[in-house]
Amino acid sequence: MNGRYEKLFEEKLELKRLVTPYQSRKTPVYRWYNLNHSYSQDLIFNLIDRFRIEPGVTILDPFCGTGTTPLACREKGVDCIGLDIMPLSTFVTQGKLMEYSTQKAMNDFEHIFPSKQYDFGFKDAVPYLQKCFPHEQLTKLLHLRFTISQMEDPERKFFAIALLNILKSISLTKNDGAFLRFKTKEKPKTLEEVFPPQVKMMIDDLPHCPSGNNGHTIRADARRIPLADCSIDGVITSPPYLNRHDYTRIYAIELLFSFIEDNEQLKRLRYKMLRSNVEARRVVDIHGFKPPQRLEKLMDELRASRLPNRKVIDMVWGYFEDMHGVLSEIHRICKPGSRIAFVVGNCKYAKTMFPVDELLAEIGDNNGLKTEKILIARYRGNAPQQMKTFGKQSSRESIVIWERKK
Ligand SMILES: C[S@@+](CC[C@H](N)C(=O)[O-])C[C@H]1O[C@@H](n2cnc3c(N)ncnc32)[C@H](O)[C@@H]1O
Repeated sequence: MNGRYEKLFEEKLELKRLVTPYQSRKTPVYRWYNLNHSYSQDLIFNLIDRFRIEPGVTILDPFCGTGTTPLACREKGVDCIGLDIMPLSTFVTQGKLMEYSTQKAMNDFEHIFPSKQYDFGFKDAVPYLQKCFPHEQLTKLLHLRFTISQMEDPERKFFAIALLNILKSISLTKNDGAFLRFKTKEKPKTLEEVFPPQVKMMIDDLPHCPSGNNGHTIRADARRIPLADCSIDGVITSPPYLNRHDYTRIYAIELLFSFIEDNEQLKRLRYKMLRSNVEARRVVDIHGFKPPQRLEKLMDELRASRLPNRKVIDMVWGYFEDMHGVLSEIHRICKPGSRIAFVVGNCKYAKTMFPVDELLAEIGDNNGLKTEKILIARYRGNAPQQMKTFGKQSSRESIVIWERKK
């Protein structure tokens, strides 16, 4: 820890589970579809209480993922704008914020499943999808996708989310940390095995849908937030971690199945993501980045290291440059006195540990924010392959809290 921020750290290990998707995977509505990188409802409740956020104000989550912040805010009567660059994220968030009739969902399900005819265009499917599913299953999935696309909202979104959530289990692939891999041991499930229980679970959750019209989504880039100056009362979010996870690869199946036409479009989205993976590019002009001295030193250390992939160097630099862009936008749109919370994780490349929490705290402070606290929620061990070389070194997952200066 560095002298300037040392006194602002506070261990809050009771939040350990809440910075992970553990709780959301079990909570009605939240569990309909989760990114592996989400956090939990109680974390947002905790921050809403801590910041004394009252109904009637507007909160922003500029990396909303599958909607934990907007949904938890709605439960508290607080308006929340969920912004994200990935169409999968904004679609699922919108779907979780809609109101549904249980009876209508039950009737519709009887009409759409099981389908009588399964003769749908396998040949027209994106080649990547043809590789990722058994032929017969993909044909059925495409037919069901077509049937659902003919429905009207909100039911169209409801069943589309159900379908998105079971795609991986039917596919020949699985998530493996930062990668999507082909399954070697597990046998893929069938549509008949997994779709009905998914829909049943979602219908059972309907009485728990928080009512109200607080909250909406915007598909946009967090480095260029399309909101007016001083229009927001607070921010609660979790940006991508500096861990090389490429969402456009991990969620390639879902994106190509429902949102993106082909590989070229997928690549274009990959280039536009925040630079937390080596393939993202500098597509947004970011001005006025004055890197913390500590970051410059760590970058020198990293450049002098033996790295399996040297592209990591530009990625790490790009990550902090992008986060400067995000924090300067947050400063612009937040009202003076607003509180801002970022859930972040530290990350290590070769021997160099990047204290993302402290570095971002300083970058925020250089952008007209004032760090109030850095709450340490969790310590994580390093990867087994790094353990052999560098021994055990834990890295923090923390919540950086700022106040927008008056
Ligand atoms: C850690 S996840 C957020 C998870 C969320 N807190 C939840 O509970 O579901 C990060 C999100 O950042 C989004 N993202 C990446 N680059 C972005 C950018 N430039 N602008 C806005 N969103 C971006 C990703 O699509 C992903 O949904």
